Amino acid sequence: MKYPQVASQILGQIQQQALPYGSKMPSLRKLCQQFNISLTTARNTYEHLEQQGWLVAKPRSGYFVSLPLNNERLPSTPKFTGRIQQIEPVQHPWALSDEHPFGYSRTQPNWFPEAAFRQAMKQACANELTELCRQPHFLGLDKLRQTLSHHWQQFELSIDPNELMITTGCLDAVRLALKSCTKDGDAIAVSSPCFDGLLQVLAQENRRVIELPCTQDGLDLTQLEVLMSSGAIKAGLFSSNHLNPLGISLPTEQKQQLAQMAAKYQCPIIEDDVYFELGYLQQPLPIKHWDDSGYVLWCGSMAKSLGEGIRVGWCATGQFKQQAIEVAAPIFSQPPLLMQAALSNFINNRQYQRHLSSVRSKLQQNMAEYRQYLLQNLPDNFRISLPEGGTVLWIEARYSPNEKPLNELPLKDLPFNLRQGSRFTTRQQYQNYCRINFGWALSDEFNGNRLHDDLANLVQALIELG
Ligand SMILES: Cc1ncc(COP(=O)(O)O)c(C=O)c1O
Repeated sequence: MKYPQVASQILGQIQQQALPYGSKMPSLRKLCQQFNISLTTARNTYEHLEQQGWLVAKPRSGYFVSLPLNNERLPSTPKFTGRIQQIEPVQHPWALSDEHPFGYSRTQPNWFPEAAFRQAMKQACANELTELCRQPHFLGLDKLRQTLSHHWQQFELSIDPNELMITTGCLDAVRLALKSCTKDGDAIAVSSPCFDGLLQVLAQENRRVIELPCTQDGLDLTQLEVLMSSGAIKAGLFSSNHLNPLGISLPTEQKQQLAQMAAKYQCPIIEDDVYFELGYLQQPLPIKHWDDSGYVLWCGSMAKSLGEGIRVGWCATGQFKQQAIEVAAPIFSQPPLLMQAALSNFINNRQYQRHLSSVRSKLQQNMAEYRQYLLQNLPDNFRISLPEGGTVLWIEARYSPNEKPLNELPLKDLPFNLRQGSRFTTRQQYQNYCRINFGWALSDEFNGNRLHDDLANLVQALIELG
């Protein structure tokens, strides 16, 4: 058999989902036995399928079934010229516990690796309790900072532990970064659409905002450069990986350019990288990787990858370390040292890596199921994003068949709070968009209802609106 024939048989299995997305392919040796082919033919088969996007090679792990090349019906990403705006904090019901799984970006609670985390907690209690109940170091637990720095080294991301400040979650880290490098009234550039939690922090800290268009090709760097060079903005606040809600990641060249622009114009970039470790296919690098000048402040947390209740985040403060210490003093509020120590043990026990690989493949599976269901059941005027990481889908309802624009989707009438597109902007935009979290499996239940039934209800309601 020649490799195109083998490849087409494998492709058939992928398309019929006999080989589901994310599943590991047999080793080259097994493939040789299975099809009675040579090692060269086996290698050519996988390379061919990889070139077509059906397989992805992971270093030292082999080949995996990738996302289908179905990037039709993607939501549109409008282009516009940004305008600096004053924004007010918005009153939202932030009662997370009651929120339906579709509404808030998070994973299923029973994915939490309880036994392994309990073990890590026990270790901390058994060996270091007295120490952990004493005065914390103002940067956070030394051991955790060392552990995190070591953990990131495996993706060739080099972060000096002395640059790291432990915070109470990612938004707390963003707030710290913002206050360390900008002041009241300053204008900050963000990408559009922008995660509403970031807009809320900017509003609470009385910063002005300018949204810049972000498309499948990335951020509008031409507009950004004008703003940076003229001093009209004092910082940028961007995510570079698995942007919430768009689901895209910035191209590598843009990340490099952003780090260079930050240095050239001495204009800090605050990077919110909370989805950094939730890529299904590969581990992307942050802008911070290319930061030689210390003008990139890198923020993240374990909220999405492990659990929101952990409340451990970080800010790699770059050259703003002294300012960050002054902003945080005199309280130095941080998550309890016991939690910091448990997390450090959990990572050192190699349980975090194990947990991440399971979460990534479950998320990929969920994403494919939600997306497929929505594409099959919503009419063609609905567009759905195709993320390669993270937990959310971005849905656009295009103009209705009679060419009348849809009114703002009245999602509040649904039995669960889906995030409306207009929450992700300071402009009059995205009224016809909404965001749905797929962090819970469709086979799971919430408040006694199967999520699959809830999704069917949602689809019905969206169709009625269209
Ligand atoms: C982009 C982004 N940053 C930060 C957060 C919140 O992170 P944390 O709970 O660690 O503050 C979220 C939560 O949805 C998010 O989507």
